[in-house]
Amino acid sequence: MSNAEAANAPDEKTFTLSNDETGDTVKLPIVEGTYGPHCIDIRQLYGQTGHFTLDPSFTATGSCKSRITYIDGDEGILMHRGYRIEDLAAKSSFMEVCYLLLYGDLPTQDQLDEFTHNIVYHTMVHDQMNYFYRGFRRDAHPMAVMCGVVGALSAFYHDSLDIFDPKQREISAHRLIAKIPTLAAMTMKYSMGQPFMYPRNDLSYPENFLYMCFAVPAEAYEVNPVLAKAMDRILILHADHEQNASTSTVRLAGSSQANPFACIAAGIASLWGPSHGGANQAVLEMLDQIGSKEHIPEFIERAKSKDDPFKLMGFGHRVYKNHDPRAQVLKESCDEVLDLLGVDDPRLELAMELERIALEDDYFKERKLFPNVDFYSGIILKAMGFPVEMFTVLFAVSRTVGWTSQWKEMMEEPSLKIGRPRQLYTGPAERPFIPMDKRG
Ligand code: CMC
Repeated sequence: MSNAEAANAPDEKTFTLSNDETGDTVKLPIVEGTYGPHCIDIRQLYGQTGHFTLDPSFTATGSCKSRITYIDGDEGILMHRGYRIEDLAAKSSFMEVCYLLLYGDLPTQDQLDEFTHNIVYHTMVHDQMNYFYRGFRRDAHPMAVMCGVVGALSAFYHDSLDIFDPKQREISAHRLIAKIPTLAAMTMKYSMGQPFMYPRNDLSYPENFLYMCFAVPAEAYEVNPVLAKAMDRILILHADHEQNASTSTVRLAGSSQANPFACIAAGIASLWGPSHGGANQAVLEMLDQIGSKEHIPEFIERAKSKDDPFKLMGFGHRVYKNHDPRAQVLKESCDEVLDLLGVDDPRLELAMELERIALEDDYFKERKLFPNVDFYSGIILKAMGFPVEMFTVLFAVSRTVGWTSQWKEMMEEPSLKIGRPRQLYTGPAERPFIPMDKRG
């Protein structure tokens, strides 16, 4: 049924908009999903009224239909394909979650074995990628390097660039999930001046990642199983988060029929900002800046002041207005890892005190600002030995499966239409050209 037909169907729910000035009314179809607020389908609005809608930061706009992830921000619920994140974090593995996000259901053992094999055997990158790294300064931010090297993948894998071939799309998705940890580990090694460690196919996905990041050729490296488990959990918790800024960037880039490697590079660029994935680095820097418990009130006051751009990093979320379910799970992992490593990081105590004071403060209560996933991830990653600049790269490693699943879902839709927002022009009205000698 076309949208116009849907709008006219007698049993269809509609939303009537009226123009107070002209008295004209228009009926728009209401679309219902499995959960969540219903949406008013406004695709006919311009044709029927000559008006656009205006929603600059997409605070009330659904950009697509999706079957992958559901968030109830008021209740603090996150589900992938109908499964709660707490269950997935406690009972499944990152490879299972990747399968679930990509294909829609949890895998059987055979499906999981085959999928894991496909990923593990794609972890090596073209050897010529090594030369790309040499072009970067050693002190480059790892996210700057990642934007470059991930985008460069499209220059190497020409055999999986036909975005209209489902098999090639699948191979590209597997390649991305498999190779991004390798590129991330190479990025870390390059910044430390250490040799690259080639992937090991006998290790699990999180073990292999830790191995590539922390092993050196000069000595044997045993992957600590507790750290591998914590890594796996971190990967699960960041795997997807519906239409956030980076995922929307990936979808928008993909809507122009750009290749998947280029789209994921665009997603990485979008993730980098401190309002999004860059917050995990910013949290640790903020804790260092606060320094000790007695300085907390001063920073809380700064965060509340309208004249100060300072914000409590790791606090607040566009969607979660109760709690971020990922933050709780991560805090438990954080305790486990610190315990295992015997790390007594004063930043953890500082973070907990900051959380306590902020949660009792009316400013944060009224605005429903709670710790988000990034609040504790920095502390755990630091304890595991990752340099602070690598934190957002780790987010990108996890989110690659979400980005590719969302891109794949969009590509599987019967008609792919380029995303092209409109605008409200507020610049000057038409005026005559001024010759140079008459300006100023
Ligand atoms: N510290 C102090 N005040 C805050 C904060 C904060 N962290 N976050 C929001 N506010 C205030 C904001 O100033 C505004 O106040 P008022 O109503 O008086 O103008 C109110 O709360 C509503 O905030 P908003 O900026 O309209 O909310 P948003 O949905 O546009 O922004 C956010 C969401 C996550 C960008 C923002 O909360 C923020 O910048 N947080 C810090 C950065 C951060 O931790 N980002 C990670 C997000 S979770 C991981 C991910 O998905 O990438």
